[in-house]
Amino acid sequence: MLDITQFDDAIIGTDTPDPLRFSFMAKKGAHAAGHAMPIMPDQKHATLDKMFASIENTNKKRCLYIHIPFCRVRCTFCNFFQNAASRTLVESYFSALKAEIELKAVQPWTQSGQFHAVYVGGGTPTDLSPAQVKELGQLIRQRFPLTSDCEITLEGRINRFSDEMFDHALEGGFNRFSFGVQSFDTQVRRKAKRLDDREVVMDRLAQLSSTEQAPIIIDLLYGLPYQTLDVLEQDLKDFMATGAHGLDLYQLIVGGSAPMLNLQEKGKLPPPATTPQKAEMYQLGTQFMAEHHMRQLSVNHWTRDNRERSQYNSLAKTYAEVLPIGSGAGGNVAGFSMMHHRDLNTYIDAINSGQSPVAMMFKQNPLEPVFASLKSQFDSGVIRRSHLAPIDDHCSFDFLLPLFKLWQQRGLLTLEQDFAVLTLAGSFWSVSLSQACIHVIQSTFQAQRPAAKFVTM
Ligand SMILES: C[S@@+](CC[C@H](N)C(=O)[O-])C[C@H]1O[C@@H](n2cnc3c(N)ncnc32)[C@H](O)[C@@H]1O
Ligand code: SF4
Repeated sequence: MLDITQFDDAIIGTDTPDPLRFSFMAKKGAHAAGHAMPIMPDQKHATLDKMFASIENTNKKRCLYIHIPFCRVRCTFCNFFQNAASRTLVESYFSALKAEIELKAVQPWTQSGQFHAVYVGGGTPTDLSPAQVKELGQLIRQRFPLTSDCEITLEGRINRFSDEMFDHALEGGFNRFSFGVQSFDTQVRRKAKRLDDREVVMDRLAQLSSTEQAPIIIDLLYGLPYQTLDVLEQDLKDFMATGAHGLDLYQLIVGGSAPMLNLQEKGKLPPPATTPQKAEMYQLGTQFMAEHHMRQLSVNHWTRDNRERSQYNSLAKTYAEVLPIGSGAGGNVAGFSMMHHRDLNTYIDAINSGQSPVAMMFKQNPLEPVFASLKSQFDSGVIRRSHLAPIDDHCSFDFLLPLFKLWQQRGLLTLEQDFAVLTLAGSFWSVSLSQACIHVIQSTFQAQRPAAKFVTM
């Protein structure tokens, strides 16, 4: 039986008459996560060899993630920037990447299942040349066992996304395009160091969408400097006007080495939007989408039609296995999670000398299936009893019920028999809520399991 009185407000949220703005202090990260156990460095290679030699006869869903760690210009808000794109650097990276693809594709593990979604992300994959994009797409299609309806996404931006690039990408087999727009507003864009002005971005998106060759999806952020509520509303209207098929609406979370922090400290940019201000922006966004009868695929993703499925987002961020390829790529395979070298030369040297590109590796938490199902359900906006993995022999939904009842009183969700449906406030705080569930499960059940510092195989 879960005793919720032992957890403080920082974990399970505050009792407030305004749950949308004040349930938690701030969203700390993009995703919830449970603890995992590091693999000892001297065991890494043996573990990887064993893992890739294994054959899984399951229907577990799989995704492939390929990382392109370059951008032509660094945006002020971005936590993901790795390297400035230069022709020679990109070429030597592309050769190493192809070598890794060839190597990973022939592994027994890889060939023993089917991949449901592929995502070529970054950085800015559209900063590759059209010929490289086509070659990459063809290599993916030729080498990996893909499902017949596999979603193959190319991420990038509108800047220099020519007709030649679009044609080459389609010929390579890409069938979904995800463009980071962040905001259409020219002032917001220039202050964030985005490369094109509003009209250029809108016109190009409208052209690409009108070809109806593939779903065109855009990312918008809320909380950027100079992005008032009015600007956000215009951003949403501009999205509608372009005819693009889908929208991801992300809360700005600035951390690490994002240049914006330094610019704000020096007074060159206004302070970041507060969490209560961002909550209001989320409210505006969700209400706008509802008024325009856009179909909601998750707490922050909407689609105009049934062409957009957002397979990668709904699978990879939740319970599917993800095979990572490239510098800075991360994924999880056969119960292990791993992160590749972020330093480009270290990655290229590792590949060229026949070494593994894995920098860090962890044995996943034994409760990971429970955590993964929680993350996926909170991300979808509805927690379904039947979709939560059990904790040993316990029904996770029943175990969490005292917490769900508390959150119902606090306006974060409503309980409907076997479902907990997030309210607007609950949707805004969905990552904090799923993190809270993971925390209470971990502290209740992990205490009963032996602690392990490192795992040896
Ligand atoms: C890694 S970026 C790659 C996209 C592409 N390079 C671009 O320029 O739009 C993917 C998405 O992450 C989101 N993102 C970047 N920085 C973020 C931040 N500080 N907080 C929240 N989301 C962020 C943006 O919406 C972006 O479209
Ligand atoms: S938002 Fe995209 S282009 Fe800008 S720095 Fe981040 S990854 Fe690069």
